[in-house]
Amino acid sequence: MDEINFFPDNLDVQNQKVILRLDLNVPLRDKIIQDDTRIVLCLPLIKRLVEKKAKIIIISHLGRPKGIKVPELSLIPIYKYLKKSLPTNVYFYMGNLDEDAQDKFSHLKEGEIILIENIRYFKEESNNDEDFAKRLSSLGDIYINDAFSCSHRKQASIHNITKFIKKSFAGPLLKKEINAINLVIQNKKEPVTCIIGGSKISTKINVISSLIEKVNNLVIVGAMANNFFIYKNLKIGKSLVEENTNEIIRTIYEKANKNKCKIIIPEDCMVGSSFTSDGINKDINTIEDNDIILDIGTKTIEILKKIIDQSKTVLWNGPAGYFENENFLIGTMSIAEAISKNTVENSLISILGGGDTMAAIKQSKNKLFFTHLSTAGGAFLEYLEGKDLPGLSVLK
Ligand code: 3PG
Ligand code: MG
Repeated sequence: MDEINFFPDNLDVQNQKVILRLDLNVPLRDKIIQDDTRIVLCLPLIKRLVEKKAKIIIISHLGRPKGIKVPELSLIPIYKYLKKSLPTNVYFYMGNLDEDAQDKFSHLKEGEIILIENIRYFKEESNNDEDFAKRLSSLGDIYINDAFSCSHRKQASIHNITKFIKKSFAGPLLKKEINAINLVIQNKKEPVTCIIGGSKISTKINVISSLIEKVNNLVIVGAMANNFFIYKNLKIGKSLVEENTNEIIRTIYEKANKNKCKIIIPEDCMVGSSFTSDGINKDINTIEDNDIILDIGTKTIEILKKIIDQSKTVLWNGPAGYFENENFLIGTMSIAEAISKNTVENSLISILGGGDTMAAIKQSKNKLFFTHLSTAGGAFLEYLEGKDLPGLSVLK
């Protein structure tokens, strides 16, 4: 297998325009950053490039604006954060990516930074548009992808851009991520438990189907579980659910049977009448029309703790509940604490990932320990599946 081309730290980049694709997709509420982990992890490379006197052009997406300039998804709060954290001039570019941009970017001085506004404001980004990728590439001399968490996306600033730029590399954070995940894959011990939650159902449901061959227990929590309840003809009230997933869930159960993989779904849950309400613990058979399922219940937490205690490897992506309201953070926190305890006391191999999972467990009052904490959610799962991620294959 070809090796990924990593950015050599000794490469002379002085006066070179370096396009840096980062994942600065952090959770925001009222334009305030709720968890800066992803940004903090990017800072060492940016600082290193400043020291090396490169001219740095940063690209990132935020959320999924689908080619529309949604003001709530502007990178301005992140720009302000970078400006405060970096010892150099940081500029923000909100214009189109045309000749005008090229001209403006050519005024950048050594060691200075320009952050481009949310790249998904351009529909060409998500379409992996060749012409757009070419225009992006023309802004720089060297390309570095340090966004492992976006590398499963076949999008212009991740994929096609590498066709048109002279030199493309993977950055140090990306390297650290895949080395850590490779280590876990190579050393994983059975029983292996995979816990999948969160709300990005459609992007994960296919991954589940192929993970079944690799794990002993598959635990489904979060909004993902709602689809399984529907499949089992259980009522879910007003809870979040994806349409038409029964067929794929049927295949999941069939495959699980064949591969002797146990599927565990919640037996009880915390429901609210709205996202801001208090929670009531209800058995999964007793959900009413106005209920919204917002966390796993106490009985389920105990079941999951036992499963984690008995596992030798745990892979986890996606929170168990609507953690933004602390009334529904308990499930996620209980899972995190059980994994952390077993990592310390029983040499459990643990790896967890995803922006939301990270943001949720950051609220813990205790220090938590894991074998590896990944910035990536979807990319992490697809990498575990053994897929060749589009953003990585172009760096080989
Ligand atoms: C993430 O948060 O998982 C990454 O930033 C990728 O975002 P996406 O799932 O919207 O492509
Ligand atoms: Mg995310």
